[in-house]
Amino acid sequence: MCGIIGILGRDPVVGKLVASLKRLEYRGYDSAGVATLEGLRIECRRAEGKLRNLEEQLRHCPPAGQSGIGHTRWATHGKPTEGNAHPHATESVAVVHNGIIENFRELRAELERNGADFKSETDTEVVPHLVESYLKNGYSPQDAVQASLPRLRGAFALTFLFKGHDDLLIGACKASPLAVGHGNGEVYLGSDAIALAPLTDTITYLEDGDCAVLTRTTCVIYGTGGSVVQRETSKSVVSSLLADKANYRHFMAKEIHEQPTVAGKTLTHYLDVAAKRVAMPMALPFDFNSIQRISIIACGTASYAGHIAKYWFERLARLSVEIDVASEFRYREAPLRRGDLAIVISQSGETADTLAALRYAKDQGLHTISVVNVATSTIARESESVLPTLAGPEIGVASTKAFICQLMVLAVLAVTAGKERGKLSKIDESNLVRELIEVPRLIAAALLAEPQIEKLAHLMADARAAIYLGRGTSAPLAFEAALKLKEISYIHSEGYAAGELKHGPIALIDEAIPVVVIAPYDRVFDKTVSNMQEVAARGGKIILITDAKGASEAAVDTLVTIVLPTMVATFAPMVYAIPVQLLAYHTAVARGADVDQPRNLAKSVTVE
Ligand code: F6R
Repeated sequence: MCGIIGILGRDPVVGKLVASLKRLEYRGYDSAGVATLEGLRIECRRAEGKLRNLEEQLRHCPPAGQSGIGHTRWATHGKPTEGNAHPHATESVAVVHNGIIENFRELRAELERNGADFKSETDTEVVPHLVESYLKNGYSPQDAVQASLPRLRGAFALTFLFKGHDDLLIGACKASPLAVGHGNGEVYLGSDAIALAPLTDTITYLEDGDCAVLTRTTCVIYGTGGSVVQRETSKSVVSSLLADKANYRHFMAKEIHEQPTVAGKTLTHYLDVAAKRVAMPMALPFDFNSIQRISIIACGTASYAGHIAKYWFERLARLSVEIDVASEFRYREAPLRRGDLAIVISQSGETADTLAALRYAKDQGLHTISVVNVATSTIARESESVLPTLAGPEIGVASTKAFICQLMVLAVLAVTAGKERGKLSKIDESNLVRELIEVPRLIAAALLAEPQIEKLAHLMADARAAIYLGRGTSAPLAFEAALKLKEISYIHSEGYAAGELKHGPIALIDEAIPVVVIAPYDRVFDKTVSNMQEVAARGGKIILITDAKGASEAAVDTLVTIVLPTMVATFAPMVYAIPVQLLAYHTAVARGADVDQPRNLAKSVTVE
């Protein structure tokens, strides 16, 4: 889960390396480093912590060199120290790596027996030592890399820089993305088109097992068998501009406030607004009538979007849905029926578990649809159909606007399925579309609760733990709300289906634990109120999120009641998500946490 960049340039390269690393920080930010070729020497600079620490170090004494590699790290093996930061270098070769070398222990033992001197605790360091061992035996850099690659087990995207070879960069990948960028007399390697966007829009994506040997004027790609292969070169549409915070203090705040706009944008992509009809922008390669079961597969917040969509598909299209977290899907050997449908959901489109699950689903003969935010991502490229979420770049690590747009797309898809399967009449369809069209306005109205939530956050900030409860579609929203709070404020929080409370979690309730109840006035409202009574009876402090009718009917003492606009309940999660996002955000700010880059996390999770 790291970001990689490599450049053969025509000017001193360090500024461009750092600029690309800035764009890659979403892949990890616990340490960073660069290596350049200075004359015959490899000059390596590394720093613990955020990229700004490396920038500071480089500002005082920038390395020269027109060829270089860079890395921003999310630690897997070894603490996030300067010593474990990449690049890792030996006498003759420097390497940056994304992924995990699973057999690093055996390789390290073997290389140490042969005299290699390891300096870090990382799995990566075996790679330069292995390549160096071949170089010492007279192999050329290319042959040394090609001899080393089959010995590496696991997932990797690697970029190599060789002492004394100013016009050579080698990249290789397996189960981890790597792209070649073609410039004017320059050439680049990067984790993705986002990193390369300010340098070039001409991109060749490497495929699994590829090894690219680059000079400033040539690019030769070798496939797994070692013979030369041709890979398509395409124009990327990724913006070269770095997203900014506008007038907001954090990207997360900006992204929360963008939600009415991006929800509307996503919606109009999938609806014929004037006709009040769903309108997929392209034909799907199957008929929903031939589908017996949908498998929805995703991780984290994206998986909670899937949980909510399960209610919609089951109710509106009478289609059964199985939900899997991507890291479990492949391993539980579920019986899958060829011709059924897998929907994978991912903001980044690079999540390793989700990508592996997508590939597994394809191998099992399922149709695959991906709901992705990054249109150039691997998941988007590899799925049979892509339904883009038009949230725009999401920079804050905690997903907010991408989640809402995922829900939008899934809602439209569920209505499409219901219509195609004859479960929804034309009138049902147009009623549901009318409800969807209202959602962006309702999100904007929900944002008006911010001052009240900001005040509440000061109380929440002192809590040792928090519980979120909901029923129906509010249950998965409670899971998402708890994830949002814990990941950015570090307050332990859990979400439960409200009816589950009495089966164990109620033992946690005391005066010190805020219990946030998400309860629009819907057909399960009374049941939720009963669960709220159970909390109140045990002294729990209740924060109720509801609408006007719910507020007047609840008849339970609450610490705070947040009243949202009245709406038809079906698509309520898209509106009720707003206060829980704001509560997490303001609580994290009140606790002085690093909201956009919380500890231990990364925006794109490219290791399993
Ligand atoms: C939490 C969050 C994560 C992601 C998860 C999947 O706020 O953002 O839980 O949802 O890591 O990431 P994507 O959607 O990129 O596959």
